[in-house]
Parts: sequence; structure tokens; C-alpha cells
Amino acid sequence: MSYVPADTLGRPLRDLRISVTDRCNFRCTYCMPKEVFGRDYAFLERSELLTFEEIERVARVFVGLGVRKLRLTGGEPLLRRDVEELVARLARLGDIDLAMTTNGSALRAKAPALAAAGLRRVTVSLDSLDDEVFGAMNDVNFPVARVLEGIEAAAAAGLPVKINTVVQRGVNDAGVVDMARFFKGTGHVVRFIEYMDVGASNGWRMEDVVPAAEIVAAIDARMPLEPIEPAYPGEVARRYRYRDGSGEIGVIASVTRPFCRSCTRARLSAEGKLYTCLFAARGHDLRALLRAGASDDELTGAIAGIWERRGDRYSELRSAATTGMPKVEMSYIGG
Ligand SMILES: C[S@@+](CC[C@H](N)C(=O)[O-])C[C@H]1O[C@@H](n2cnc3c(N)ncnc32)[C@H](O)[C@@H]1O
Ligand code: SF4
Repeated sequence: MSYVPADTLGRPLRDLRISVTDRCNFRCTYCMPKEVFGRDYAFLERSELLTFEEIERVARVFVGLGVRKLRLTGGEPLLRRDVEELVARLARLGDIDLAMTTNGSALRAKAPALAAAGLRRVTVSLDSLDDEVFGAMNDVNFPVARVLEGIEAAAAAGLPVKINTVVQRGVNDAGVVDMARFFKGTGHVVRFIEYMDVGASNGWRMEDVVPAAEIVAAIDARMPLEPIEPAYPGEVARRYRYRDGSGEIGVIASVTRPFCRSCTRARLSAEGKLYTCLFAARGHDLRALLRAGASDDELTGAIAGIWERRGDRYSELRSAATTGMPKVEMSYIGG
């Protein structure tokens, strides 16, 4: 195999998350609160976005450097016109785990085309099964039923489905057990995510975080669980299976049990900036290199160099001081 760069903590480069748009039709209060992402917010212009050709080229270089997992995200990736064309281009890059994270709002219509284009699996975000709670969290009153239809359509198209649920104390934590019960036995794995201090707009406070251990205990008390091994090295979710054999859940404890030590993930923003951490304040401008006519070798050298200088471990260092530091928004960098 070709050269695989390692960073200053010895971590290889394995995953790339690609944000295809910074726009979204939801205004989740923990991600794109209306007060900040309202009418006057300056979203990127179309000419600022990487084209599909540019994304494919960057992705090919990353694959050459050892990346084996590509995930399309955003903003809402299904808002990018003809995104299935991009999926088809990336699917041709080789034996790559090609996934997408979506709010599911357009999945019912798009699932067959995504599956046909070569998407391997999909993660659908759904924070509550209660319309009132979900509507308040997405802040556009988007109904639960439409997301569930998207999940069904994805499964019908043959895509394995995971569900992401961000848990916020006093907002949707009362529905965690219902969420687990609803998907138990369906084959869809729900992953409960600790609310994180990404970006600078959501007014994050530690008191709003429900620790993963508490989530597992609440579910275990009703539907007994046992821990299982990670599916692969560096998996961020901790896995638990139901003792009755009816499936599994995961928890992503990025706040209470940070996993920086095994983080092999880079992120490409919609305008082509490369970030080596979700909590980074600054990215590296790959679009400038692409548009200045850099060769594949030059791109490879630049990306390997950025990775080799990487020493990020924000979540391990998280403290009152780091929480207030400038950071990019998750909708921009790609969650
Ligand atoms: C930024 S979204 C982008 C993709 C798509 N719009 C979606 O919602 O699935 C990716 C994931 O990040 C999660 N997320 C956003 N803000 C978060 C926060 N402050 N803490 C934890 N997870 C967050 C979302 O719930 C979603 O599952
Ligand atoms: S979490 Fe996803 S759906 Fe919600 S506002 Fe952020 S990008 Fe949009």
C-alpha cells in the first residue's frame, strides 16, 4: 500500500467527512439557532462551493493517502442539487465505506437514487418521536412522520440505517427510552450523542449534557443491555446489545469520555477548507490549491503535511477556558 501519514500523536488518516453545503432547511437549536442563522446569515455562494469534480479530486487524493471511509454531510447534504451524482463519482474511487448523514427530510424521494449511485449506508438524525419536542428542536416544526418515511424508504432501497439522537437535558432526555424501544428489533441502530460545545452559537452549558452512562443506565433498567466490542479500531460509538438478542444501541460520549486518542478523521468544508478537528478554529485552504492548478502530487504533499503536523485533542483538554475559544460551526465544517 501507498504511504499513510500519521500525525504527531501517531494517529493515521482514515476517514474524511465532506460537507457539501453549509445550508439547511432545519434550524436545530443546538446547531443552527435561528437567532444566528436567520434571514441575514451570509451562507456561501455557489461559486464558493467546491464543484463535484473538485470534491472527487480531493477525495481521490485522500484515498491515496489511506482514507477508507467517506461521509457526505453538511448542512443538509440532500439540499445540494444532484448530490447522487457526487455519490456515483465517489463510489467509483474503490472499495470505500461511502456513507451520508442527513436530517432525513428529503430521504423518501432521494433514497432509491442514492442507493443506485452506490451509497453504502445512511445515518438519519432524529432527536425525538414526539412531534412537539422534535418540532421545537428542529425549530421549523418538521414532523416526525416524514423522517420515519425517509428511514423506511432508505431501508426499502437496501441501505443500512443508523439513527443519530442528540440528547439535551430537559429538552428530549425524557424520550430516550421510547426512542430505543421504537427501533429495537428493526435492525436500525440508534446512537445517542452527548450534546457538544461545537461552534459558538448554541450557548452550550455542561449542565445541558446528559452523560452517556446515564443514557445507558436508563435503557438498561427497562431493556437489559450488555457492552460489546467496537466494530473496528477507532469507532467513536460505544456499543451495547440487548440481552434478548433484539439488536444494539450506541452512545457517543464525546464530552464525558473523549476519544481524541483514536481520532483518525479529517473534515472538508463545503468551500474546500480542511479541518483536522471538529473543534478547530481554522482550516487549510485546499480550494486555493486546486484552483491555482496544483498537481495531484502537490495536493498529496500538502494534505500529508497538514496531517503530519496535527496534534489536536480538544475534547481531552476541554475546560471552562477551551469552551469559550473561537470554533467553527458544525453546519459549516460538517458534522
Ligand atoms: C451537523 S449535522 C449535518 C447532517 C444533517 N443535517 C443531519 O442533521 O444529520 C450532523 C450531525 O451532527 C449532530 N450535531 C449537530 N450539532 C451538535 C451538537 N452541538 N452536539 C452533538 N451533535 C450535534 C446532528 O444531530 C447530526 O446528527
Ligand atoms: S443538525 Fe443537521 S438538520 Fe439540524 S440544523 Fe444542523 S445541519 Fe441542519
